[in-house]
Amino acid sequence: MSTLKFAVLPGDYIGPEVMSEALRVLNHATSAAGLTLDYTFADVGGAGIDNHGQALPESTLQICRDSDAILFGSVGGPKWETLPPKEQPERAALLPLRKAFSLFANIRPGLLYKELTDASPLKSERIPEGIDIVCIRELTGGIYFGQPKSTILLENGEFQAIDTMVYKTSEIERIAEVAAVTAKARGGRVCSVDKANVLETSVLWRKTVIDYFAKNHPDLELSHMYVDNAAMQLARDPNQFDVLFTENMFGDILSDEMAVICGSLGMMSSASLGTVQNRHGHPFGLYEPAGGTAPDIAGKGVANPCAQILSAAMMLRYSFGHSEIATKIEAAVRKAATVDGYRTGDIAFGQKAVGTKEMADAVIANLS
Ligand code: IPM
Ligand code: MN
Repeated sequence: MSTLKFAVLPGDYIGPEVMSEALRVLNHATSAAGLTLDYTFADVGGAGIDNHGQALPESTLQICRDSDAILFGSVGGPKWETLPPKEQPERAALLPLRKAFSLFANIRPGLLYKELTDASPLKSERIPEGIDIVCIRELTGGIYFGQPKSTILLENGEFQAIDTMVYKTSEIERIAEVAAVTAKARGGRVCSVDKANVLETSVLWRKTVIDYFAKNHPDLELSHMYVDNAAMQLARDPNQFDVLFTENMFGDILSDEMAVICGSLGMMSSASLGTVQNRHGHPFGLYEPAGGTAPDIAGKGVANPCAQILSAAMMLRYSFGHSEIATKIEAAVRKAATVDGYRTGDIAFGQKAVGTKEMADAVIANLS
């Protein structure tokens, strides 16, 4: 199939700005390979609330259902912060999307180019070669979605809230497989992160992971770490990890820690893969930059488009099976930001910064 059909959900603030540049890059990269893009725009997040009264309108969901992947921008911002938490763009759009498409596997590369080590809050001597790790986070289970989840008024007049952390063997095994496949394509090492000294879910997690790897991936090097230690180790020596693999809430926290030590959020891409296969025989997935809507710089044309461009590359790799084009785009971004010296403000370290469009132009120049 030479037509790639996907939904484009740009979202809010810098979302649409970086999205249009990513689409420009995608068009260049794919047309050179004889592929056609067929994408449909839909509102999400604040744009959904403003135009349809909800963060994830049914019309947007339908466009996603009719597609083979979702290219997502970012949602949320000050305009909608006064809404009840459950209706706010992040929670009311992202979590239901994850559930609707069973997007259980979140893949977040922690990549910092050697030339950009100054962007990291870690001392450069700790990361002389930059950083190259991957975080695999379980995304549809655990305390985010477990029932019961509620707040009640007790007889004595105080409130009591409850969240439930719950995991089944099958949920752990399917994400373990994603971690294993990811490690096979890299350094062959998986570190599974849990809190098995305290939590029942973690005891099951660790046992299931040990059994699963012993049976299915004995060739991989598997280790285990408690989450508190993992947080410390990540800040001390991130490259001791190859693939960091963990449950939903631990992964939320550790992947943000990883993002900050990798310098700029403007470079951080992600993929969330579902259980459903698309028409190409690959996982349906949602691809989004990790950086958020950056309301402070929105509308100025200065946002870094690289995270969105790299997320689009991940879409080509995972949902459309075009790894070779994905690799070309990744190389083009890397060269633009390093050898060619094109850098948006977030990675310019006080030197001359280019705008969103110029950065994308520099990437495109490396594609032809
Ligand atoms: C993320 C975000 C979301 C999460 C929020 C916005 C619901 O922080 O994608 O990491 O907690 O998963
Ligand atoms: Mn998060």
